[in-house]
Amino acid sequence: MDIKSIRSDFPLLQECIYLDSAATSLSPMPVLNAMLEFELHYRANVGRGIHRLSQVASQKYWDAHRRVSRFIGGGEGLIAFTKNTTEAIQAVATGIPFSKGDTVVSSLLEHHSNLLPWMRLKEQAGITLTLVPPTPDGNLDPDRVIEAVREGAKLVALTWVSNVTGAVTPVREISQACRKHGALFLLDGAQAVPHLAVDLASTGCDFFCFSGHKMLGPTGTGVLWMKEPLSEPLLVGGGAVETVTSEGYVLAGGYERYEAGTPNVSGFIGLGRAVEYIESIGVRSIMEHEAALTGQLLDGLRDIPAVQVLGADLADRTGVVSFNVGALKPHDVAFLLSDEADIMVRSGHHCCGPLMNYLGLPGGTVRASIGCYNSSEDVDAFLDTVNRISKVS
Ligand code: ALA
Repeated sequence: MDIKSIRSDFPLLQECIYLDSAATSLSPMPVLNAMLEFELHYRANVGRGIHRLSQVASQKYWDAHRRVSRFIGGGEGLIAFTKNTTEAIQAVATGIPFSKGDTVVSSLLEHHSNLLPWMRLKEQAGITLTLVPPTPDGNLDPDRVIEAVREGAKLVALTWVSNVTGAVTPVREISQACRKHGALFLLDGAQAVPHLAVDLASTGCDFFCFSGHKMLGPTGTGVLWMKEPLSEPLLVGGGAVETVTSEGYVLAGGYERYEAGTPNVSGFIGLGRAVEYIESIGVRSIMEHEAALTGQLLDGLRDIPAVQVLGADLADRTGVVSFNVGALKPHDVAFLLSDEADIMVRSGHHCCGPLMNYLGLPGGTVRASIGCYNSSEDVDAFLDTVNRISKVS
């Protein structure tokens, strides 16, 4: 992997050290150029116009669907574009007819976006919500999940990769249990793409939700993959209907059913280009590169006496690393990293309040997260600065 050439595609890397890819990734120039090309040469609405520009825009938008689907091994399943992972999960929560007494199994490791929709269903529809606790190092024990599934569940909703600890959930075992006990399986892939090789057939999930903006695509882009299309979309309106009379409407088939209103056309054309960009590097190469940097980062943090890493010894993990520095508040550490060395990391509860309470970390953690464009020099600079901060604390 030619890291120097990759880095030259990301202008922001000349201005800072970016270790916050779990919050949002940067977009390379080819993605930005694809979006600019749309604006300059064929900006038009999609699926609605007969004129030349609309035809070109519609074709490119359609191509983006196909490219994204192929990238994740979407097969016969249907891809719908959403704003982000949050909206994709919400579409599943409102698209399945839940009734009082149905059970959803999730975990305390989840991001609020994969908790609040189920909490709301508990309040409003009377479902039972079972939250499986994680191990002390912030991982999910599949046996605990399978035990809960065995007791009966309509849906199991879990993250593939923790946005706090980087732990990778063993999805295959869980999806087999879901199949056996008749539960649907929603997999939150927000932190998995493009850090793991995704082949949906081998995960065995029924719904896969992820964010384009965390995989080098533009903000405001997300994806919902459905093995079997939900019958009810989250929104109804223009573009999502086959026919409408004053008496009622017939919804469209295909992805249009789930994409009412004018979509983020340039964003999704950019997302299609992001997939092409990732494919040109190769997900396997990205995984190797990120694993080497994660090893370097963890080894370096272990050598700093005041640092405690959450899940330092996880066997299966990505480059999302949470830690604390002595008694320093996580926000103070993040501020000093930014202020003293232009290093961007996230701090706080990472939208995982219940997890932080469970782990006894009410102030949360500092989180550094690796992207394919990071270099060994980035990690060295980060470690030097954490070391310096730890000594003045
Ligand atoms: N979900 C994103 C994060 O973990 C925003 O930072």
